Amino acid sequence: MTDIANAVGAALRVVDEHHPPDSEPPLCECGKPVESYSHGETTRYAAHCSECIARQDAERERQEAEERRREIEERWFEEAGIRPRFRDSDFEGFAPGPNGKVLTRCRAYAEIFEVGQTSTGLLLHGPIGTGKTHLAVAIMRTLHLERSTEESWDHRPSLLVNAVELVGQIIAAWKRGESDPALYRQARETQLLVLDDLGLEVDAEWAARQLYELVNYRYECRLPLIVTTNTAIKDLTERLGARTISRLTEMCESLKLAGKDRRVERRVRERKDPA
Ligand SMILES: Nc1ncnc2c1ncn2[C@@H]1O[C@H](COP(=O)(O)OP(=O)(O)O)[C@@H](O)[C@H]1O
Ligand SMILES: [Mg+2]
Ligand SMILES: [Zn+2]
Repeated sequence: MTDIANAVGAALRVVDEHHPPDSEPPLCECGKPVESYSHGETTRYAAHCSECIARQDAERERQEAEERRREIEERWFEEAGIRPRFRDSDFEGFAPGPNGKVLTRCRAYAEIFEVGQTSTGLLLHGPIGTGKTHLAVAIMRTLHLERSTEESWDHRPSLLVNAVELVGQIIAAWKRGESDPALYRQARETQLLVLDDLGLEVDAEWAARQLYELVNYRYECRLPLIVTTNTAIKDLTERLGARTISRLTEMCESLKLAGKDRRVERRVRERKDPA
């Protein structure tokens, strides 16, 4: 076999008595004639016409690119602490409802954010299920999946941590004799931290000090912070202390979400209209 015949191997077939070399080439399933390659006594025909082959190649390339993109996304979701429920949370999927202005502000924030430059953050507050975590994830998605190259994050991509879990991990680490667990270190150093569901921490006074240290460190380093909370500022101040809250309000633009709990609404809809 010649090199060219080897190279196109699977796509070619040897002509048989139905297709003697001097007859019309066989047709592709689309009706167009296929390419033929003659060498010596043998003529080989491509299995498809060149248009169909080009289309199949393009489709395969598209699928491979999609697969690569999904792998990159998956790895990023893991590193960024984004759980499966929020992996589709983006701006396009956010129904503005009563929160159109907040949506616009969050989009603008994601558009103008510059790694190493932006030091202000957002304080997203409002009732449970109004889309605070969804919007925080949408900002992270825009920054990582649409706007940036990995290098620009200097190997410190943004991180979403649940405040209760963070405090839980600090306690667990202390019990093991470690003073500075990896998650806490990451939360301090990451370029953009999303501190999710602040205000529900157990073991209040101790937790409050850990959170103060985290917020204050980022404040002093001019590192931005997005906080989500359904606790009123007055109650946050009581639980976390005035120093932490004054840092937070200085660092963050406050955005208030309104509306009904989407999770409850969805359950009601599903019960009324079972799919
Ligand atoms: N405006 C919205 N449009 C579309 N989905 C929403 C909206 N608000 C919330 N959701 C969805 O409802 C669920 C609860 O939202 P979430 O962001 O967890 O609320 P919160 O953090 O305010 O408690 C999530 O699955 C989220 O994607
Ligand atoms: Mg939330
Ligand atoms: Zn064809």
